[in-house]
Amino acid sequence: MNDTVKVERPAPASASTEQTPYSAWLQTDVLHSLQHPVSDHPGEHAWITSAQVSELYWMLIIKEIQFAQAQLRANDLTQAIRTLQRVVAHHEPLNATWRSIAWMTPTDLLSILSRVGPTYGKDTALQGWTYRHMVYLLGIKQAEHLQHFTPQPKRWDQLNKALAEPSLYDDVLSYLDRNGFGVPAAVLDRDFSVPYEPGKAVEKVWRDIYADQNGNLELQQLGETLADIAEGFSTWKYLHLMATRRTFGGRPAYFGTEGVAWLVPTMDEIPFPELWSARGFIGDPPAACPHMHK
Ligand code: HEM
Repeated sequence: MNDTVKVERPAPASASTEQTPYSAWLQTDVLHSLQHPVSDHPGEHAWITSAQVSELYWMLIIKEIQFAQAQLRANDLTQAIRTLQRVVAHHEPLNATWRSIAWMTPTDLLSILSRVGPTYGKDTALQGWTYRHMVYLLGIKQAEHLQHFTPQPKRWDQLNKALAEPSLYDDVLSYLDRNGFGVPAAVLDRDFSVPYEPGKAVEKVWRDIYADQNGNLELQQLGETLADIAEGFSTWKYLHLMATRRTFGGRPAYFGTEGVAWLVPTMDEIPFPELWSARGFIGDPPAACPHMHK
């Protein structure tokens, strides 16, 4: 009989925690308790939310890149590409966060920022450890940024470790070396904490991968996925630069120098350098054999 059938239902969450499965899984109560405006400006909530969403995406990208590195080390190129394609996808919503604060004029920004300093002290986004960790994983290793994390020793240790460890590009190059594309030992066994020096030998590796349009298809797909990641990252920097021009103009920023002038050179910091420089040669006919004219 039907009334003897015992239907199993999950026990209701205890009254003290006041959770539903949805709120417990997604931690919505915690999430929505994390926005604390310091000014009276009605747009500050949008600023905080937009920055927090960026923080979440940077952490997501860090985890995905670390996962892809493990897959490359296990020689699982197919799965590594799938993981890296997710990194490409994550850049879309990350870059769209700029729309959420595009309404800001200099007056809006300053009425918010003028309250941050007196409440928390002089801040700069260079104090953000997620962005820096992601940048180190992308292979842009600038040790000088560690100085901002002395008040957070655990984060300083985390970033110092990321600085000294291979970046995604280093793992890509060792994968290529293990799979028949000779990468010089000096590139593979170097001190990873110093900035990467691009060279002709690695540029030739990319040129060889792309030499035959119908060969090395999966490696070409890897190259295109990395190019998409570099584009997504550079697009974020461009949108940030334009937002700074729009709301801040030529004002001096954290270091006392003009903020825009500080940011402009960072536009040239593009990950995976030889993947880009090789494009000046991919498709060129091979150099003519000197014996041809005899
Ligand atoms: C629209 C208003 C903004 C202005 C005027 C601005 C200005 C600046 C300036 C001048 C710098 C250079 C370092 C310094 O002097 O502090 C910088 C760096 C940075 N900002 Fe912003 N920023 C804005 C919004 C944001 C937002 C919303 C985020 C992210 C949520 C962000 C993240 C960063 C990061 C990650 C850096 C380091 C960039 C690098 O190392 O290449 N900024 N910003």
